[in-house]
Amino acid sequence: MEIIRTSNYMELSLKAAQMVIKVVNDNPKAVLGLATGGTPKGTYEKLIKDHKENHTDYSNIQTVNLDEYLGIDPDDANSYRTFMKQHLFNEINIQEKNTHIPNGQVDNYENECQRYDHLIQDIGGIDIQLLGIGQNGHIGFNEPGTPFSETTHIVNLTHDTRKANARFFKDIKDVPSQAITLGIKNILESRLILLLASGENKAKAMARLLNGRDISESFPASALHLHEHVVVIADEAALSLVDKQKRSAY
Ligand code: PGA
Repeated sequence: MEIIRTSNYMELSLKAAQMVIKVVNDNPKAVLGLATGGTPKGTYEKLIKDHKENHTDYSNIQTVNLDEYLGIDPDDANSYRTFMKQHLFNEINIQEKNTHIPNGQVDNYENECQRYDHLIQDIGGIDIQLLGIGQNGHIGFNEPGTPFSETTHIVNLTHDTRKANARFFKDIKDVPSQAITLGIKNILESRLILLLASGENKAKAMARLLNGRDISESFPASALHLHEHVVVIADEAALSLVDKQKRSAY
């Protein structure tokens, strides 16, 4: 695990975007694993800026998103499909057919999970997976207690996760209680994983991830210690509780 420490969120976003751009330039048919939430927004802004200025080409790039709420129409203002369109897809030259997100509104959720697992295999696997981290250590919507062996599956969202995401909705009651998410097994199959963490509210989770190496299903992000190519980009605030000697120890 490599740790890149930045002084602030802007710098974090720039460094993350530079890594994604390198993957895209090295392989114009790369598969990008993307995330929603507050953390990757700045990265997407930098990707858009770079696309407009340097014409980085996404015409043959494919994307695979981590998760989607259940029971939400893909065109709903709060769907992750809408989030991705607004924050990235509409602003770069990616083909819509190459942007993959679980469908949260299907009759058979089990079939949708299997379809998504097969799709990832069919397009050659994920080259770089962007991840945020929940305050409880979740990655994607893999909440504490999720077996590391899980592939794409349905989850019941914890109260804390719904509370954290209520900021995007009118009321916490409107936050769906279930989601479909890539499993930890899928995430660990990515060739490169980029974990982003910004702000004091992530400091405890980052301390648990980096101060020790205890790998436990009670803390999903700890599964990342099992992967050989993880880059953590975090700002000072997110690393504030990480022991000084550990900040570059990996
Ligand atoms: P955030 O969410 O980027 O909005 O903080 C991260 C997560 O919950 O995985």
